[in-house]
Amino acid sequence: MNVFVTGGAGYIGSHVVRLLIEAGHRVRVYDNLSEGHRAAVPSEVPGRKAQRAGRTRSGAGGLFEGDLMDEARLAEALDGGFDCVMHFAAHCYVGESMENPQKYYRNNVVGSLRLAAAMRKVGVGRIVFSSSAATYGVPREIPIPEDHPQQPINAYGQTKLDFEHALAYYAGAYGLGYATLRYFNAAGAAPDAAIGEDHDPETHLVPVVLQAALGQRQRVEIYGTGYPTPDGTCIRDYVHVCDLAQAHILAMEAIEPGKGLAYNLGNGSGYSVREVIETARRVTGREIPADVAPPRPGDPPELVASSEKITRELGWKPQYPDLDTIVETAWRWHQSHPDGYRD
Ligand code: UFG
Repeated sequence: MNVFVTGGAGYIGSHVVRLLIEAGHRVRVYDNLSEGHRAAVPSEVPGRKAQRAGRTRSGAGGLFEGDLMDEARLAEALDGGFDCVMHFAAHCYVGESMENPQKYYRNNVVGSLRLAAAMRKVGVGRIVFSSSAATYGVPREIPIPEDHPQQPINAYGQTKLDFEHALAYYAGAYGLGYATLRYFNAAGAAPDAAIGEDHDPETHLVPVVLQAALGQRQRVEIYGTGYPTPDGTCIRDYVHVCDLAQAHILAMEAIEPGKGLAYNLGNGSGYSVREVIETARRVTGREIPADVAPPRPGDPPELVASSEKITRELGWKPQYPDLDTIVETAWRWHQSHPDGYRD
């Protein structure tokens, strides 16, 4: 298929782009590089001219730099006979979304609506959307199934839910086909360490812990120890970024016009913040000092997925389900790229 990938230079997007290319799809990346990295886009992604000429391997790099808010640029980029859009471009920090919600509404809601409008204009009828476990809020049951009530407790989760709702209405009115994938906690890196996670500033737990293992941070701060969990720290379901990538391809192939799919993506096992730090100590053999800090606003105590639906319906099977392997692959990336893509 001919696939248009917004945010394809970012952490999850770049792993999906790589897999799409390996699977023989043609890819154009649309990214404003505010958080993504030029070096994360494989050189095999064909450039615009090469795509027009029907060549899929130009080596010229296929990064189309542009912002979701830039309607003219978006229209130009989308005009290429695409079969599907994969939409990763978003701001994704729960904490920041509580301090600066406007930034999140502008990009994650307004920008996404511009993308949907541009798709209608050029007649691209299917989209895979990066949604989030953050749309569920504080869960009433664990593991969380897809039909669990969605009541976000942070602006980030709300913006993701808003676009999920828009997609459902667009499917009914315009025949759009979509799949919304609700990620739990993406972690890990490509096993060959060619690409990985590089945010600036980094706030996600696994990379923060590994930066402390490398001595790039003095210590890890544990955000709150008074949660109603066995050790008092928050529990999350960590899922390998390459397993997320696989799910995108399965979802893209399953989309039907006018219909929506929604799937959780997690491993169904929860690990506390303290357990993640312990795992990283074991995997790296480093000390990793940690201190207790105040809780972070907007953090639910526990998020664990039931991904039974995508396993049953699309045959998704994570290749790297255990936390040790997830942390090992991330560690390989951080050791070989201590300064991320600047190396
Ligand atoms: N944490 C710490 N110290 C840190 C960083 C994180 O204690 O230095 C804790 C957080 O409080 C949280 C857990 O580690 O309890 C995981 O935090 P992350 O920031 O790694 O991830 P989040 O759970 O906040 O968010 C991630 C994605 C979101 C997504 C969410 C859904 O970044 O996009 O998972 O679970 F919505």
